[in-house]
Amino acid sequence: MKVINLTVNGQDVREASVEPRTHLADFLRDTLNLTGTHLGCEHGVCGACTLMVDGVPARSCITLAVACDGAKVTTIEGMDDDEVMRALRAAFTREHALQCGYCTPGMLASAHDVVLRMPEATERDIRYAMSGNLCRCTGYVGIVRAVQSVITQRRAAGLGSPVRLRQELGPVGSGHAQPMAGGGPVGRREEAGAPVPAPQSGVPREAVPAAAGGGRQLTTLHQSFSVDFPRDEVWAFFGRLGEVTTCLPGASLLAPATETHVEPKLRIKVGPIVADFEGAADMQRDEASHTGTIHGSARDTRSASATRGEIRYVLTEEKEGAATRVEVQVGFALTGPLAQFSRSSIVKDIAQRMTDAFAQNLSARLGQPDGGEAPAAAAELNAGALVLSVLRARIAGLFGKLFRRR
Ligand code: FES
Ligand code: FES
Repeated sequence: MKVINLTVNGQDVREASVEPRTHLADFLRDTLNLTGTHLGCEHGVCGACTLMVDGVPARSCITLAVACDGAKVTTIEGMDDDEVMRALRAAFTREHALQCGYCTPGMLASAHDVVLRMPEATERDIRYAMSGNLCRCTGYVGIVRAVQSVITQRRAAGLGSPVRLRQELGPVGSGHAQPMAGGGPVGRREEAGAPVPAPQSGVPREAVPAAAGGGRQLTTLHQSFSVDFPRDEVWAFFGRLGEVTTCLPGASLLAPATETHVEPKLRIKVGPIVADFEGAADMQRDEASHTGTIHGSARDTRSASATRGEIRYVLTEEKEGAATRVEVQVGFALTGPLAQFSRSSIVKDIAQRMTDAFAQNLSARLGQPDGGEAPAAAAELNAGALVLSVLRARIAGLFGKLFRRR
């Protein structure tokens, strides 16, 4: 157990004992009985658990309580008398912006941030800014209209100037958020040039945080798959960097690739959130050991998110040389708004889907006769179905528990 001190809704919480693995939402609900914070996906995707940590919206299901030592946490219960929240509550009622209300505390917390931070927001801006909050029953028209009406009211009352623009990235509440440097997002987890341990067979295929030198942290994933082609053929194909890149679902090339350099674009969709990463990567290969290393970095053109990392692969023979096993280790650091999705379970799910699609595309390409038309890769990776099914199950479970109690 760890002992933490923090402020919740203006009240001091002193010497609270928490398990290091307890997330903030569980701590608030189970220890402090603040059940206004709802839990949906517990993957950092649906936004139901959004609250304010040090004045910044945070997903309490992926924020550890121990990371909030010294922080100021404000839940929906603590915003009863807040002037903006009062206007938002009235607007949500007026515009029919809720039905079951499950998503509403998180929706209101995000809306509060949008109203204060984006006084000139258009409908489109509001939709984009609120796209991290999912509502399964109301639809978004009333919600967007409610937020827009509060912004309009405040502008008319001369209250339109931004209270505060977010200038910090990093885990809010930890006291370790880093200022933005040089106009770009620089977080403590961004420095991904540090070496990633070599692949080891038998390593569990799961996302694990890897500490690199100087306190830098990378998330490391191990994936492997087999293709029914001899290793020399697979090795030769892996030398054609452009072709290998476009085996990834949602990947395309920004410029023709050389043998050692590629500039790809990668589109990934997680629920309502679409990321278009553009970047560059360089590859080195060692024919004797049939290993390769790719270093790269990319930036999402839609948000300030960025990633840097390293991919290592090793090819080994299987089935007496008739097949090849491809073992891949990816070490990466993600910064910016999308960093909240680097929770191991969701990264593992996305990585598994990408690996499966990549292996399928690779086999299809290798099976093409020379000069044949290569089959197109999927337009994008869509992990939305996965996330929504998790959310639906959670909400159904909650209703199930409520009805069983009666
Ligand atoms: S419960 Fe936290 S984002 Fe869904
Ligand atoms: S009102 Fe949004 S989930 Fe029901």
